[in-house]
Amino acid sequence: MTAQIIDGKVIAAELRARVADEVARVKRDHGLTPGLAVVLVGSDPASEVYVRSKHTQTQAAGMASFEHKLPADVGQDELLALIGKLNADPAVHGILVQLPLPKGLDTERVIAAIDPAKDVDGLHPNNAGRLAGGLPALSPCTPLGCIILTKSVHPSLAGMNAIVIGRSNLVGRPLVQLLLNENATVTIAHSRSRDLPALCRQADLVYAAVGKAEMVRGDWIKPGATVIDVGITRIPTAEGKTRLVGDVAFDEAMKVAGAVTPVPGGVGQMTVACLLVNTLRAACAIKGLSAPAV
Ligand code: GUN
Repeated sequence: MTAQIIDGKVIAAELRARVADEVARVKRDHGLTPGLAVVLVGSDPASEVYVRSKHTQTQAAGMASFEHKLPADVGQDELLALIGKLNADPAVHGILVQLPLPKGLDTERVIAAIDPAKDVDGLHPNNAGRLAGGLPALSPCTPLGCIILTKSVHPSLAGMNAIVIGRSNLVGRPLVQLLLNENATVTIAHSRSRDLPALCRQADLVYAAVGKAEMVRGDWIKPGATVIDVGITRIPTAEGKTRLVGDVAFDEAMKVAGAVTPVPGGVGQMTVACLLVNTLRAACAIKGLSAPAV
């Protein structure tokens, strides 16, 4: 048996096209151009790649993109002042501060300074709390992407057994809440969980979000399960080059699972597409318009 490959590239492209259509509609009908501001502190090469991709895709969707690059040694107060300016700027509907921040900056304080209505990362305590309380909220983009990919295979997740491996604020915790909202039965596993393979084998839906290359093996997976791989690690190859791998041993999983996301070309593609969705949603909410149909 060979699993179905869930094509994040195709699904993300479809989502971006729907966002672009809705952006064109709100521009035409309401004179609203959604705007996203991305703040990059320092020059981490991976973060620079992400930020460039956000900029290009935001403009391609017809939205305004504002980039703010600050040196790694910027003071906390200067960064907070920039966030204050973006909070007050009517052309900006979404604010994203690229993480991780360089040492010396207080990530919690920076995130808390963002206007929750513009918090398109869904990391502000107001949004995290609202999501945990089952209330409408801006939710983190990678977990939203995971749900969309899962629903491409299973339109309803009600009653399914899901395991989320990893409990980060950016992925694991919000993903658990989104799965609960979809009426899945959720196990949260982490570095202290006992007998992870046995826990995993009970799951119809496996979400691997720990950042450990190929940790989830084929014999951890229940036959026919859907496997969503959030991990992305660069590892050296025998030929002296490098390649990207996920948290799941892909070739092994393909022999057991029903459906698997590849790395790259799976979850990664969805994160920026969902950021565009959140920016459009935030813009409509700030303008008092009904939620967009995406
Ligand atoms: N760094 C890696 N992923 C993310 C993300 O989703 N949001 C932010 N702000 N930083 C990240």
